[in-house]
Amino acid sequence: MSSTTVPTPPMLSGGLPVLGHALEMLRDRDGLFKRGHAAHGDLFAIKLGPLNTLVVTGAEYNRIFYTETDKALNMQEGYAFLKEAIGEVLFTASKEDYYNQRPVLQEVFKRERMVGYIEAMNLEVQRWLDSLGQYGEIDVTQEMLRLTQQVAGRSFIGKDYEQELGPNFWEWYQAISASLDPVLPPTLPLPKFWRRDQSKKKIAEVLNKVIQKRRENPGRYNDLISTLLTTPLKDGSILPDASIVIMFMGLIFAGHETTAGQAAWLIALLLQHPDYLKLVKAEISREVEPNKPIDASVLSRLEHIYWAVDETTRFRPSADTQIRTVEAPITVGPYQIPAGWRVMVSGATSHFMPDVFTNPERFDPLRYSPERSEGKNPFAIIGFGGGIHKCTGMNFAKNEMAVISALFFQQFEAELVSSDIRVVAGAGANHPSAVRVRYHRKTAIESLKTAESKAEGCPHPQPQTTSEG
Ligand code: HEM
Repeated sequence: MSSTTVPTPPMLSGGLPVLGHALEMLRDRDGLFKRGHAAHGDLFAIKLGPLNTLVVTGAEYNRIFYTETDKALNMQEGYAFLKEAIGEVLFTASKEDYYNQRPVLQEVFKRERMVGYIEAMNLEVQRWLDSLGQYGEIDVTQEMLRLTQQVAGRSFIGKDYEQELGPNFWEWYQAISASLDPVLPPTLPLPKFWRRDQSKKKIAEVLNKVIQKRRENPGRYNDLISTLLTTPLKDGSILPDASIVIMFMGLIFAGHETTAGQAAWLIALLLQHPDYLKLVKAEISREVEPNKPIDASVLSRLEHIYWAVDETTRFRPSADTQIRTVEAPITVGPYQIPAGWRVMVSGATSHFMPDVFTNPERFDPLRYSPERSEGKNPFAIIGFGGGIHKCTGMNFAKNEMAVISALFFQQFEAELVSSDIRVVAGAGANHPSAVRVRYHRKTAIESLKTAESKAEGCPHPQPQTTSEG
């Protein structure tokens, strides 16, 4: 059928003059997508200001979204607001630059490097746990923001990362992250954009020193920066220093708030589901030896934890939507989508399809067990994207979440204090509102009890501490 005879998808009601559905989208994206899906099914249109936007649901249409990226669909425009903040690299760079830089990205995340990253995760997670004392109360959402910074620092810069990045690095990073604004022109003379530019300069100064040190001592380092300094691009050239700075920032940007939000939800959801947490604790007690780091072979045996990670990605995704621009007219289902339209995938609807996920409104990690094998289609869940641009840091992030939850629940008893945890939509990624958790250390509490009972002359021996608790 020709493009003139095929109708465009049904437009959702409720759009305002000029703004269309933009305000509703800002206020309640999940609600908007769910309302559209209930009214029209898997393909419907909304207006974001003047832009016609197709929202797609379900593995079949999600597959078109991801496999047509860099063909009929353009990814870079959707991330244009990031360019001013971090610069042009990977998904914010031109298609040609992206494919030229891809070998470097693959080198950074190749399997052999994961061993070092997992070691870094163990060290930083254990340092965090040691800092928690015997008992107390924390906001896990805030704690995960700090912890994922420390893991990224040690993984990518090495053991001296705190000294090398200096005390203000994350403050500057935060100023850049807080400047992100998909609506306002990024060059307006606003304080937040001024702070962004100052912070970028300071970060560049710090990272240029880090680069210089590695260049002067090439044999001494084997970290992200030295990898970027030595891995040839597709055209055989090496990334210039300015691009190394931007690549570093791009990776941190892609991986930091996303992982922090998802890790905080993971702990919250496990605490909200004690029956499943029991299975997780049993697995930890079986597979994770106390006082030993978790290596890749231990991780490979933690299936209940990874099912919980996958279910968290479905149930409360940090990246619940992604957007593309239509460059060449494209057929989606019965519709011809003209050039200039936008297309969005939607976790709020794709992740809750009752014919794909049994009782989709339930947090139920066992749906991924071999007996049930739900959501096997690689395009059913969009939390890490799909196709050529699928999250390169996915295994990094999943392993990090596994190490955090395994060591936390191995060493601590915890209960949730927050009763109403909501999704907070951030500029870069979603995260939970405060997740307040009261905890006490298992081993110390046991030895404390023993000591106390001895002091009181209690005649009954205290039970031995177990790692399961
Ligand atoms: C739970 C944590 C994470 C989530 C939810 C997440 C989500 C995503 C998603 C949805 C995409 C695809 C974007 C699109 O198609 O528009 C993506 C791409 C990417 N992510 Fe992640 N990510 C996470 C962690 C990480 C980490 C830890 C890193 C690196 C340290 C990372 C690096 C990247 C990179 C480099 C890309 C671009 C890949 C490309 O364009 O080829 N991500 N991520």
